[in-house]
Amino acid sequence: MSKTFDVAVIGAGPGGYIAAIRAAQLGLNTACIDAWSNEAGGPAPGGTCTNVGCIPSKALLQSSENFEHARLHFADHGIATGEVTMDVAKMVARKVGVVKQNNDGILYLFKKNKVTFFHGMGSFVAAKDGGYELKAGDETLFAKQVIIATGSAARELPGAPFDEERIISNDGALRLKAVPRKLGVIGSGVVGLELGSVWRRLGAEVTILEALPAFLGAADEAVAKEAAKAFKKQGLAIELGVKIDAVKKDKKGVKVSYTDAKGGAQQLDVDVLIVSIGRLPYTAGLNGQAVGLMMGERGDVLVDAQCKTNLPGVWAIGDVVRGPMLAHKAEEEGVAVAERIAGQHGHVDFNLVPWVIYTSPEIAWVGKTEQQLKAAGVAYRAGQFPFMANGRARALGDTTGFVKMLADAKTDEILGVHIIGPYASELIAEAGVAMAFKASSEDIARICHAHPSLSESTKEAALAVDKRSLNF
Ligand code: FAD
Ligand code: NAI
Repeated sequence: MSKTFDVAVIGAGPGGYIAAIRAAQLGLNTACIDAWSNEAGGPAPGGTCTNVGCIPSKALLQSSENFEHARLHFADHGIATGEVTMDVAKMVARKVGVVKQNNDGILYLFKKNKVTFFHGMGSFVAAKDGGYELKAGDETLFAKQVIIATGSAARELPGAPFDEERIISNDGALRLKAVPRKLGVIGSGVVGLELGSVWRRLGAEVTILEALPAFLGAADEAVAKEAAKAFKKQGLAIELGVKIDAVKKDKKGVKVSYTDAKGGAQQLDVDVLIVSIGRLPYTAGLNGQAVGLMMGERGDVLVDAQCKTNLPGVWAIGDVVRGPMLAHKAEEEGVAVAERIAGQHGHVDFNLVPWVIYTSPEIAWVGKTEQQLKAAGVAYRAGQFPFMANGRARALGDTTGFVKMLADAKTDEILGVHIIGPYASELIAEAGVAMAFKASSEDIARICHAHPSLSESTKEAALAVDKRSLNF
């Protein structure tokens, strides 16, 4: 006899595992099915984020940043190190350890919350008795409600399939055995910038080829400009407006033929090529057709604003549906759907989903960019404060960048905050909280911020909206 559940979640990435935990907290008998295996064949819940995304990339970003600091900046503090070397195998082994801690943490949380975990592929068998019969590995189960959280996979460049050795996705880029002498990256999006930075810091000569004519088009233009300047100074070569014509691989490396922005034919020879041109929703093996699940043109599961699919009792969340492909967006949708299933009123505010790029300088923003406000004809006031004028940033030895705040010209409500500089990833939380409470720039300007702290720059940017910065 098949096991029966109130809710079955397919996929244990940040969307799925959080949805399962929240559903169980709300008293629903919950199963979570995930196919990801570690090298030993055991379960590795956490999805792309934990295994080949957010967590391992941040582990390598930290290691490579420590290396760069030791090599280039410790001397400024009077610390003599002698020659600094990097043991790539050890760095990667540390990353594997960090990933495992997170995998084990999720298995522990499933136990603690009484979520029944199945390791294996989950797929639809049939709609039955007001619910769904599913396969979970070799087992069959029945669930009244199903949450699809099957995530996404890296998009391949036509004619250049991933071999994860010479032409690599995020997966291969997180487990290179040695630092390539020359590294090519196609796509100057988030993966290209973060992982390009990791290997540049370790000594690779990195060239990024980007199709669009503008750099970091989703960011505020002032931030994108500052970022381009900083990356160039670090030696990250970024070529915009290119068209990739062909990618050829041989035993020695990869040859990329492309047309540059001026229409000239160019060739880039590299040892290894990262292809980071976006991700596609992943539903292979789900067998949605067995129950008539409606899909979009990108291969995404079609959902409404509530994450409901066309099928009664079937929901979908995270990277497999519309919206930004971010772990925290997936998590928020997971919580909201679990609460809706339990009869509550789950809610996600897409305007308040923060973006963070963990390069150095870090880049983070929430809300609208200046160009979006202009395009929408919204009257706004802008305030900006440079980290150069912040005491804590000077003490840190990291004064690149600024905080920029945009507020409604009439009501003074904060409409967007854009940060480039040290710990932008942490500083952006204050902006999110303020905007969730519909704060004005005046509210932030009147809140006591600790001195000396980087967060004083946010307060100063708020003061600058009213042209009354105190320290600049
Ligand atoms: P996923 O994390 O992709 O999880 C889906 C899970 O479902 C996987 O475990 C998969 O094996 C499983 N699965 C799929 N089909 C089935 C099936 N039929 N049966 C059983 N299991 C199945 N986002 C951030 O917010 N911050 C970051 O810093 C960040 N860094 C990133 C770095 C990199 C290099 C990459 C590639 C991505 C990064 N992201 C980051 C994006 C983030 O990883 C994704 O947005 C997030 O993982 C999406 O979560 P999800 O739960 O929707 O799907
Ligand atoms: P991306 O969408 O961020 O960037 C892809 C880039 O490739 C774009 O700039 C695009 O114009 C360019 N491109 C597309 N086709 C091209 C072509 N044929 N030739 C040259 N350039 C081309 O995608 P990326 O970097 O692969 O990351 C995937 C997703 O993962 C991100 O969108 C993001 O949602 C998530 N992510 C989030 C991170 C974070 O939050 N810190 C870190 C890494 C990934």
